[in-house]
Amino acid sequence: MLNKKKIIPYGHQWIDKKDIEEVIKVLRSDWITQGPKVEEFEKAVAKYCGVKYAVAVSSGTAALHSAYSVAGIGPGDEVITSPITFAATANAVVYCGGKAVFVDVQEDTLNIDPKEVEKKITKKTKAIAPVDFGGHPCDYDEIRKIARKHKLLIIEDAAHALGSEYKGKKVGQIADMAILSFHPVKAITTGEGGMILTNNEDFYEKLKIFRSHGTVKKPEKGGWYYEIENPGYNYRLTDIQCVLGLSQLRKIKKFIKRRREIVAKYNKAFKNIKEIILPRERGYVKSAWHIYPIQLKLEKLKANRKKIFEELRKEGLGVQVHYIPLHLQPFYKKKFGYKKGDFPIAERYYQRTITLPLFPKMTDKEADRVIKTVKKVINFYKK
Ligand SMILES: Cc1ncc(COP(=O)(O)O)c(C=O)c1O
Repeated sequence: MLNKKKIIPYGHQWIDKKDIEEVIKVLRSDWITQGPKVEEFEKAVAKYCGVKYAVAVSSGTAALHSAYSVAGIGPGDEVITSPITFAATANAVVYCGGKAVFVDVQEDTLNIDPKEVEKKITKKTKAIAPVDFGGHPCDYDEIRKIARKHKLLIIEDAAHALGSEYKGKKVGQIADMAILSFHPVKAITTGEGGMILTNNEDFYEKLKIFRSHGTVKKPEKGGWYYEIENPGYNYRLTDIQCVLGLSQLRKIKKFIKRRREIVAKYNKAFKNIKEIILPRERGYVKSAWHIYPIQLKLEKLKANRKKIFEELRKEGLGVQVHYIPLHLQPFYKKKFGYKKGDFPIAERYYQRTITLPLFPKMTDKEADRVIKTVKKVINFYKK
């Protein structure tokens, strides 16, 4: 089945002439970092998401670290999250000295199951960090009820979900803080980049201090003067990146529309293939469709996921796997005692999943090639 066609990646940025021109303008200006474009970008994203405040930082990971830190997560504190996520969601808890407490996911959305969350709450639990996997918002009505009852913060990992909606509300409005990522495969890109959204003024002020070394200016003591109560980090995003983000944000409607068109095309083409399960979107959400992970019904196939993954790659599809459950990573096993079998739904999903290419710049011809290739490979290996 070897084929030397151009690889269609699983995700890709869409940078156009206008984006490039905007970046060049900033490069020619006086400010290339921490100038006017940072606040402009923050305000534009906050407006788009319908939240009061936004703080731009250097990555989604930095956004998580900042959010957990200003939420007061410290040594011994527990944060409940999903094992089906990128490592940063849990790693950033560890940066703060806390423990990532995983709970199993729902079979259809692959988001944390609120019923499981409640079972894992202890005296040390400080926050819930729901992850909107693939862009599908979590069950926030239930999660909020639990958080309120136990006085916990909700720090939403919305890295996949800029532009997604939960019951008509844009992601970012629901949690105490929500984080975004602007990595190239995400809804919009700044190269590397991230943001924290919040309606809480206290968090907003603390986040700005945290991203800039922990310095607090005291102009009454002199124009140069600042104090550091708690050391922060250099997590600043540059004007060069923020102007790119602003230019990208102007196209987000078009980007999400195109993602949804491709998803509709895939759903239609794959709906009668009995050997695969398609990703689902519940009726009360609108997903920004960051990724399109299918699941193989291995009992109906003569090959395992690894074999089918490799065949799809040989055929020129840059397929991926999202994600290896975090509790199975050596660090999390050793540090917190997690083991195989702890989260059966997450583990079963992992054994069977493959992410197909999906990005707004994808042409119909490329989408058709993905469909044709998946059909060919599945047909070849079906029992
Ligand atoms: C769910 C999730 N959270 C956090 C991150 C971290 O974002 P970044 O790569 O911008 O640091 C990612 C990045 O892939 C992600 O997918």
